Amino acid sequence: MTKTIQSVRGTKDILPVESAQWRMVEDVFRRVAEAFGFQEIRTPIFEATELFARGIGETTDVVSKEMYTFLDMGKDSLTLRPEATAGIIRAVIEHTLVEKNPSPRLWCYGAMFRQERPQKGRYRQFHQFDAELLGSAFPESDVEIIALAYRILNELGLEAFELQINSLGNAASRAAYREVLLNHFRPHSDNLSHDSQQRLERNPLRILDSKHPEDAPFVKTAPLLVEYLDAESRAYFESVQTMLGAVGIPFTINTKLVRGLDYYCHTAFEFVTTRLGSQNAIGGGGRYDGLFEELGGKPTPGIGFAFGVERLMLLLEEERKLPENISTSDVYVIGLDDESRLVAMTLAHNLRAQGASVVTDVLRRSFKAQMRDADRTGVRFVAIIGEAERQNNNVSIKTMATSEQREVPLDAASVLEVIRS
Ligand code: HAM
Repeated sequence: MTKTIQSVRGTKDILPVESAQWRMVEDVFRRVAEAFGFQEIRTPIFEATELFARGIGETTDVVSKEMYTFLDMGKDSLTLRPEATAGIIRAVIEHTLVEKNPSPRLWCYGAMFRQERPQKGRYRQFHQFDAELLGSAFPESDVEIIALAYRILNELGLEAFELQINSLGNAASRAAYREVLLNHFRPHSDNLSHDSQQRLERNPLRILDSKHPEDAPFVKTAPLLVEYLDAESRAYFESVQTMLGAVGIPFTINTKLVRGLDYYCHTAFEFVTTRLGSQNAIGGGGRYDGLFEELGGKPTPGIGFAFGVERLMLLLEEERKLPENISTSDVYVIGLDDESRLVAMTLAHNLRAQGASVVTDVLRRSFKAQMRDADRTGVRFVAIIGEAERQNNNVSIKTMATSEQREVPLDAASVLEVIRS
């Protein structure tokens, strides 16, 4: 027998039962984003490699080791998007969106690609729901974006998560802190993990969120960024906290939260859970006031976040918040004999023309087998046509939940009246 082909490591098929659950979650994203005045933007799945190198930062794990990069027609270096923000900002600059509206609210949904070691909650192709609020350097925009994320988690019914926030300060505060950190880690550089040794001179902040046990003692004693925030950065962080309090969004401060991408300043945040093992961040984001300039645009502040949808699905399952059988059809139409099958086909056709969702049997199965199939699809009603029904010009409608059955005239309008009541 010919060998079968398996899906690529780190990718996942979303099968029909799951896809209905995904769609339910995607509907919440869309609905809540729209309730906050956000509009959808769809950017290409691949972009010039330079966009991510400049936007996310050469020294980040994402850019230095996780990107799917290839040569297009042997010359241009392209990369499958590892995240959505850089592409969105590229599009905003390219289409002068900020000139048309000083504070665009944008959301984006789709597949992202990172060449990471796959494990539970970590894939090479995964999905993000991403939102960006541009043009405002005021803390109310931070709170607006966090409130959007929080509302989505609430609407999904999730409970087992915590919002962690930190401030990375302005550029001056970060530069001062960088020196302090270098002085702290340098004397121990021989004892740090290989990864952290590599990061030491290039990006010492990243050592703070190292997961290597050998780094833990030095991370534990590291001076905290909050202690090196200047007055402006501190005031900003305090305003964000006051406003979060005012709108009733609970949070904790995690002084070690630095995030994995280079574009952040001031507010950084993550939604974390204890239910998913080591891949505990279901979403994260922050402010990025220098990104537009980095990408050749006019200075424009911005803040945003992204949820990892696979992780949200895992958490929803863990919290038993996913309906098992989401039926996409209203009614299953059964014809019991050759002639009835033809009548059933016509009825199905007319019902669909009026907007109903209808399944029919195409395997010429027995009545019993068709009833089993109807049960499997989760329809609420079955419409049955046999010789007796045909003679009376009727159709029997069975309500699956109660097994109650009644006859109505054999026309789409009469059937619709029952299934829509
Ligand atoms: P990020 O923290 O790199 O931020 O990713 C956001 C979320 O995507 C993570 O919290 C996680 O849930 C999910 N995620 C990341 N990598 C994987 C993976 N390999 N497998 C499964 N899920 C994953 C960003 O991407 C920023 N662009 C967010 C942002 C928007 N910041 C400002 N605006």
